[in-house]
Amino acid sequence: MVVLTCEYQPGLEGIPAAQSSISYVDGKQGILEYRGIRVEELAQKSTFLETTYLLIWGKLPTREQLKEFETDILYHRRIKYRIRDMMKCFPETGHPMDALQTSAAALGLFYARRALDDPAYIRKAVVRLIAKIPTMVAAFQLMRKGNDAVQPNDNLDYAANFLYMLTEIEPDPLAARIFDVCLILHAEHTINASTFSARVTASTLTDPYAVVASAVGTLAGPLHGGANEEVLRMLEEIGSIRNVRPYVEKCIQNKEKIMGFGHRVYKVKDPRATILQNLAEQLFEKTGYDEYYDIAKELERVVEEKLGHKGIYANVDFYSGLVYRKLGIPMDLFTPVFAIARVAGWLAHWKEQLAVNKIFRPTQVYKGIHHAAYIPMEER
Ligand code: ACO
Repeated sequence: MVVLTCEYQPGLEGIPAAQSSISYVDGKQGILEYRGIRVEELAQKSTFLETTYLLIWGKLPTREQLKEFETDILYHRRIKYRIRDMMKCFPETGHPMDALQTSAAALGLFYARRALDDPAYIRKAVVRLIAKIPTMVAAFQLMRKGNDAVQPNDNLDYAANFLYMLTEIEPDPLAARIFDVCLILHAEHTINASTFSARVTASTLTDPYAVVASAVGTLAGPLHGGANEEVLRMLEEIGSIRNVRPYVEKCIQNKEKIMGFGHRVYKVKDPRATILQNLAEQLFEKTGYDEYYDIAKELERVVEEKLGHKGIYANVDFYSGLVYRKLGIPMDLFTPVFAIARVAGWLAHWKEQLAVNKIFRPTQVYKGIHHAAYIPMEER
């Protein structure tokens, strides 16, 4: 018999769903750590691939381990022509997150062997997913414009290569470094909706491609990863600084959410938003002013004034869109770019879940009726 040990909490708010040593958030002080290391320090000193290694294997790699990991990733960045052909059949009007979810799941068709207790299998699956997801995101972008996908460039590192595959231009080193930092900032964030989704799927002992595909589907929603795209639409709609205050007041009056603000855990400004704002400023300094940045800063000021008392501040999605726009990333690719980074966190949770696995099977509070009669069709 199942015994209810706690009250039902909508959204499982405050209910621990896993024991994890991957990342830590202090929502009151605005602290985020990956394996105990502050994200600010990683943003300054690490690379996305080193951070990925840290998240998944629990320790910073030695020079040799990192080299080997980077080389493996480089070697696996290409995707099979059958996957490219499959992607060519996707409708060009489809959302890139749907294209990514489908392509990620399709990898499971090509790499069907499942050996979840074999560390070599785990490593290979990690390498394939980290290496191929950016290639698939970039391929869909070019294909939907009617072009052929660009092959990865072996002379470019992970972040620079993605920007190259997307734009067919080798990026400026500052742009590539800033993009790499964006990936570090989005790589992991405790047990949020998509990570929970990944862990639930992992707990059935299915393959890692299904784990990532289910997490991508969860990340796609506007209350989660989809918010960064919505932020730019909102800035477009606001249009000028003088419209900011009336816009915020209208949202509050109509009980509408202002995108890029609020967080289930952070009750202060998200530390990632602070770093992203700095990166945005560095980028604008090098590549030119962005009119939306002024609107964004004013919006942050007014939202803090009106909603700060409720603990509603800018979250990670607020400034990321401005950075991505400046890097030449189309708006509807913002969430797939988030997914490229978060695959690292999802895979760390996949590995952690496998080590202590018990299939997720929560209970429910039944609110329906009993002993209902089946009414024949003609009497309904
Ligand atoms: N704008 C205006 N009011 C807000 C906002 C917001 N962005 N976020 C929360 N509130 C208000 C709610 O209206 C509510 O007010 P009330 O208590 O007076 O009714 C209160 O704050 C609590 O809000 P909830 O929605 O219950 O908070 P919850 O923890 O469930 O939601 C969430 C967190 C989903 C992120 C929410 O803040 C939101 O929808 N934000 C906008 C979307 C967004 O930016 N999502 C990205 C989050 S970061 C990420 O996923 C990577």
